[in-house]
Amino acid sequence: MRHPNPTLDRFLDSLEGIVAAERDQWKIVAAVEPLVKQLIADPDHSYIKDKYRRPPEGKTGVASGYGQYCLYRRGTQLSVIAFCWGPGKGTPIHDHLAWGVLGFYDGLEKETRFKRIDDGKDANRATLQEIGVHFTKTGETSHLTSPQRDVHKVENPGDVPSVSIHIYGCDMGTQRRRRYDASSGAIEWYSTPHDSDEVVVS
Ligand SMILES: [Fe+2]
Repeated sequence: MRHPNPTLDRFLDSLEGIVAAERDQWKIVAAVEPLVKQLIADPDHSYIKDKYRRPPEGKTGVASGYGQYCLYRRGTQLSVIAFCWGPGKGTPIHDHLAWGVLGFYDGLEKETRFKRIDDGKDANRATLQEIGVHFTKTGETSHLTSPQRDVHKVENPGDVPSVSIHIYGCDMGTQRRRRYDASSGAIEWYSTPHDSDEVVVS
């Protein structure tokens, strides 16, 4: 057993099977995304505990607008995280440097995607072009691949918390990644530690 919740346990079993068999990030996200869609469609959402449906109180810093509740992680290879953005909260423009699959339970998330259009040689500054805005609703899924589809910002434009699940091919609690200043393009390395942990395996 990987997790005490049977619905999430079944999902994790299939997920671990995929990542054990496949190295290509495109093939991984193609296989994981339908699995996440299925997970969200299952009426049992009890693994998203009530306390994961609101951001933690008193949190400060770059990730203060959202809760990052890790449900399962294996080393630095895989993490499954419940995310919650409070109304009006959001992220800076950022990347992940890993593949990811996202699934949406409640509320509304506005995702703005960007493409880096400079030559990538300046480690401190990037020129970003906005390439699209998507409003993501209950039951939908999305994915990230690095570096082709990796830079975005996420906001909750609604008046209730947004709740989603994110699966990453890394431990997003320790992953060093970049955020980008929207006007100057300045790059800063950062990481966002989990607000809580459930199952951790090595
Ligand atoms: Fe993100």
